[in-house]
This record gives sequence, structure tokens and C-alpha cells, in this order.
Amino acid sequence: MRPHQKIAVIAGDGIGQEVVPAALRVLDHLEAKHGMGIEREVFDLGAERYLRDGTTMPAELMDRFRDEFGAIFLGALGDPRVKSNVHAKDILLGSRFQLDLFINLRPIKLLDPRYCPLKDKGPDDIDIMVFRENTEGLYTGVGGQFKRDTPDEVAIEAEINTRKGVERIIRAAFEYADARGKKSVCMSDKSNAMRHGHDLWQRTFKEVAAEYPHIEPFHLYVDVLAMELVRCPERFEVIVTNNLFGDIITDLGAQIQGGIGLAASGNIHPGQVSLFEPVHGSAPDIAGQGIANPLAAVLSLGMLLEHLGYPEHHESLKDAVAHCLEHQHVTRELGGELGTDAVIDAVIAFLG
Ligand SMILES: NC(=O)c1ccc[n+]([C@@H]2O[C@H](COP(=O)([O-])OP(=O)(O)OC[C@H]3O[C@@H](n4cnc5c(N)ncnc54)[C@H](O)[C@@H]3O)[C@@H](O)[C@H]2O)c1
Repeated sequence: MRPHQKIAVIAGDGIGQEVVPAALRVLDHLEAKHGMGIEREVFDLGAERYLRDGTTMPAELMDRFRDEFGAIFLGALGDPRVKSNVHAKDILLGSRFQLDLFINLRPIKLLDPRYCPLKDKGPDDIDIMVFRENTEGLYTGVGGQFKRDTPDEVAIEAEINTRKGVERIIRAAFEYADARGKKSVCMSDKSNAMRHGHDLWQRTFKEVAAEYPHIEPFHLYVDVLAMELVRCPERFEVIVTNNLFGDIITDLGAQIQGGIGLAASGNIHPGQVSLFEPVHGSAPDIAGQGIANPLAAVLSLGMLLEHLGYPEHHESLKDAVAHCLEHQHVTRELGGELGTDAVIDAVIAFLG
């Protein structure tokens, strides 16, 4: 059964206010052409709202997202006027935890070799799907401070690894590899130094891998993974790792695929409402100038459409982005001359 055919739109802060409306023009175009009938509801959430009335994320909204929506499309959150970043934590981390979006799915796909900082690498060499665990690890806020602001201060940040959490993200990676005909899954941890939690990853990985004998499981410590992604990215098809390591490794991945303006992501619970967002932040340094690259938002929209049951539209959006890159219909940070809207015009022209 398809998820609800309704999208919650949160443009958020900074360039989120530019790239989300831009990407939605592409959705308008697809709707006019294919008539999917996807409804939208726009939510006024972000720094402006927080500064106006103190609202970050109304509790009842999570229930509505769960019950009425198939997906959430988020721009970016972060504003220099909100030093605590409390609104971003409540909206983004709140959604991840409360909606149990346990898969942070980040494709690392080079679409055009000219945008790759690595020597002699082409699109066939860099085509990786990263499964980052999204609800546990070091990002749960478990821990505390003792004797704060004294010379004896102690600060503890606890890493949470549950059997259920580790197993379901590893299984999701194998299921993906199985469904797409991928030959290998790499699990990355630091079990040589983190002997308790990452031993759980080791054991679980071996057990789940045994259920998929046609897929080669291999393991790399995360420091080695960082080196190998630069030296030999073609080794990797599917990577599964924890929350912190996935966060870092996928930013490395964003650069080798052509930069932060091209990196898309999904925060997913299969079959339930899930959240899709470009990897980049609100980029206050360029906000309001009409020069933000909207292609990461377009690719994130593609992932959202796949989640709603339209993989063919995801494919056509990837083709459209590849076309823009090939013909230099790109923004300044990629060496082009176009503004945000002109790039979207090029995407729409390609879609026909
Ligand atoms: N998921 C999110 O919402 C998210 C992610 C990262 C950072 N943030 C927040 O965003 C704010 C700014 O953070 P930052 O500067 O570290 O990261 P950032 O991604 O916003 O910007 C980093 C650099 O990349 C450039 N850049 C980013 N996206 C671009 C695009 N689409 N087109 C062209 N250039 C682009 C920016 O101009 C900047 O120079 C902070 O408040 C941070 O907390 C939010």
C-alpha cells in the first residue's frame, strides 16, 4: 500500500526559504504532466516563527504528521539570531526521534566527473548508498555534566546501541542491496577501541549477513573507511554505520560527489511518514541573494517521490540534474552563472 499522498512542507530558515519553493516548482510541473494528485500543506516553522511566538514544534503536529502525511519536505534550519538552535533541535531531531526515522539514507553519486575533486574518477566509480543509523548512537543526549564550570568538571556523552536499533539499520542495508542487485555491504565501526557498543555491531552484522549469502559483507574501521573513500571509492556499493560516523562520512561523500549543493538525504521509516531534506544547512552567508543551488533540494524531492511510490520520477529528476551539470546550468559555487530560479527553469525545460 502506498503511504499517504500528502506532503508537509517546512521551508525553514535561510536558503531553505529559496530552495524549497524552487523545488516545489518542479513538483508543480510533474503534477501538471502526470497528475499524481499529491496534496501539500505548508507549515510556518523555523527561526522566524520561534522569534515571533516561541513555537518550535507543536506536540500535536507530530501526531498529524504520523496520521495524515506520507512525507515531510524540509529546507534547512539554523539562524544566527537563535544561538541555542533550539528550534532546529526540536523540529529536526524531534522528527527523527518521535517519528522513529531510523534510516538516514544518503546517496553518494557522482553525476558529472568535472565536479569531483578526486583524480580520474567518473560516475561509475562513485555510486554508493550510505545507511546511517538515525535514532541512537551519540546523538540521543544521554549523559550529563558534573561540577560544571569548575576545574574538576566531568562531561559524559553516552553512546546508545540497542540490539533492535543496530539490527534494523543493518537489515535495511542488506534489503536494499538485495533489491538492487548490489554485491557487497560494508559495515563501519570502531570496534577495536569501542569494545562494548561496537562489538554489538560486529555480532549483529555477522548474523544478519548470514541471511544474505549472495551479498559479500565486509568491515572497515571508520578511520580506514575515510581513507578508502578518497583512495578507492569504487570499492563501495552500500555502507552501513552508526549515527556519528555516518554524519561525518556522508559529508566526505558529499564532497566527492560534487559538493554540498548536490547532496540529498532521506530520514526514513519504511512504509511510514518520512522526512526528506538537502544535506546542506541554511547558508546564512548567501541567503536572500537568489544564488543558492537548488539541485540538492530537487534530488531530495526525487527521494521523497520514490518514498511516495513514484521511483520513475526520482529517476527523471536525477537525469535532469545530470543534464544541468553536463550543460553547466549551475549556480556560482559550481562555476556557473545561473541563479536559483534559472537552474529550476533548466530542470523543468529538460523534463519537457
Ligand atoms: N539539516 C539542516 O538543517 C542543517 C544542516 C547543516 C547545518 N545547518 C545549520 O545551517 C547553518 C549554517 O551552517 P553551515 O554554514 O555550517 O553549513 P551550510 O551548509 O549552511 O553552509 C556551508 C557552506 O556551503 C555553502 N552552501 C550550502 N548550501 C549551499 C547551496 N545550496 N548552494 C550554494 N552554496 C551552499 C554556504 O554558502 C557555506 O559557504 C547553521 O545554523 C547550522 O546549524 C542546518
